[in-house]
Amino acid sequence: MRLSAYNFVKLIHRVPTLKKVAGILRGTLWIDHVRAHEILFKEKNIKSMIEFGMGDGTESFLKQLDKVASVEIFTKDVALAEKLKVADDSWAIKCKERFKGSKNWELIMYEMKQPVIDAELDVTGVGGLVKRGGNPRAGAYKIELSALLDQLGLDKYNYAFVDAGIHLRGDIVNLLFQRVPIIGAHDWDDKAIYGYTRINKPANYDEEEGVGSHAGIHFWIKQGMETQ
Ligand SMILES: C[S@@+](CC[C@H](N)C(=O)[O-])C[C@H]1O[C@@H](n2cnc3c(N)ncnc32)[C@H](O)[C@@H]1O
Repeated sequence: MRLSAYNFVKLIHRVPTLKKVAGILRGTLWIDHVRAHEILFKEKNIKSMIEFGMGDGTESFLKQLDKVASVEIFTKDVALAEKLKVADDSWAIKCKERFKGSKNWELIMYEMKQPVIDAELDVTGVGGLVKRGGNPRAGAYKIELSALLDQLGLDKYNYAFVDAGIHLRGDIVNLLFQRVPIIGAHDWDDKAIYGYTRINKPANYDEEEGVGSHAGIHFWIKQGMETQ
């Protein structure tokens, strides 16, 4: 089988450098989705991104891109955060301290309102009316999330990554279609709890699995996006 120049370059991108392998073995570099993102950013010439959920991955994105915005969806109600296993504002405080020196980083804080709280109570099973991993009973949370996305100026970003602390990730992916050309979602193998089963892929997006993620990473790429 002959290897085209494009496939050869793609293959080279997929082979981690010795430095990376050493880092992984030391346990210092291992963030589940980083390798898949390094490949994606090179192949698609990505310069700016918005992420839903932030953490160790953010540090890697900040090193590679001109602009990274992190959206933190949280509740001030610490007891509710604990019950739902979502974030209160303490995670954002830690991240602010950690990334304060990064000029290319912007933090967008969003305090969830009742429709999203109700949907979270349903999908996590905590509300007692829906089994964990089921669908929200009402659709109002989609209106709340759509209004949030309307405020983000999404046309500034080449890429959106959904790895949020809340569980309504599939719904965020649905709302990102036609607003951002490339979308990624982490923990793809846990379809039910993150609502990935609710995703409706539009015909003008292709999809592919990212490499090297144990939890699963999935990408949707708008047709016509050039590969480097
Ligand atoms: C699911 S994690 C993934 C973040 C990032 N994409 C990464 O890979 O490092 C991110 C979200 O989980 C929530 N979270 C709450 N406490 C956390 C903690 N101790 N460590 C990490 N994430 C936490 C926050 O809402 C945070 O934005």
